Amino acid sequence: MSSYSIRLYTESDRRRVHEIFISGCHEHIPTAFYLGLRQPHNWLLLVLGLVLPLVTTGSVVLSILGVIGVLFVLWLPGREFYLYHIRRGLAKDLKDIRKHYLQREYYSFWVVDLDGEVIGMVAAIPAITPQEKNIELKRMFVADHHRGKGIAKVLCRTVIDFARRTGCGAVVLSTTNVQVHARCLYEKVGFKRTAPTEYNAWLSLVGMAWVSYRYDIPSDT
Ligand SMILES: CC(C)(COP(=O)(O)OP(=O)(O)OC[C@H]1O[C@@H](n2cnc3c(N)ncnc32)[C@H](O)[C@@H]1OP(=O)(O)O)[C@@H](O)C(=O)NCCC(=O)NCCS
Repeated sequence: MSSYSIRLYTESDRRRVHEIFISGCHEHIPTAFYLGLRQPHNWLLLVLGLVLPLVTTGSVVLSILGVIGVLFVLWLPGREFYLYHIRRGLAKDLKDIRKHYLQREYYSFWVVDLDGEVIGMVAAIPAITPQEKNIELKRMFVADHHRGKGIAKVLCRTVIDFARRTGCGAVVLSTTNVQVHARCLYEKVGFKRTAPTEYNAWLSLVGMAWVSYRYDIPSDT
């Protein structure tokens, strides 16, 4: 593989950034569904979907339709979550990346450039409270054919260096328990789990939850 470089976003990267973002979000929909299938309360739902139509109507066809109905209901939360995430991203920060990320203090957006092709990205936004001045890591994506080569680790370090240069105390981020590879990545880089997991009733049907991480910048570097 030729060597890649990390550089700031330019307008010509827009189409490719959107493609990587959309496909990277879509791939979590089946994972969220499988997570739902592993939840014991959903086994009960599946058994009810199978048995109830059978004992009430005696129809095997309705019984099969009952199971399909439950499977459909378990597919929906992950699908709706990630499709909403795509719609919101494209309508908000990713609509005009230059304006949103490259013209304001504490914001930035980098892409991974491999021989002129964008194969990954990451963004930074401020997370400033009266007590703390931190950077939030956002939009971490690596195109699927280029994964497992340490690119995301370099992207994490890019954001950590940015936080250090801008005088921030930590890098924070939120992800979901569905994004297992992302969680392994953050833990490998040295991020620590922070706030307790927040559940939302609709997402908790499939066992989906938010997970927050924090990387404290050592004060002596
Ligand atoms: C998460 C993601 C960015 C990782 O990108 P990547 O370039 O493949 O990651 P790296 O090669 O830098 O791997 C870094 C570490 O992450 C973990 N990791 C990454 N992919 C993994 C996988 N498939 N299985 C297990 N661990 C994995 C490992 O700990 C790895 O370190 P190691 O190779 O030294 O063991 C990529 O899979 C992706 O874009 N996923 C879809 C989008 C997404 O979920 N983004 C996160 C938003 S919060």
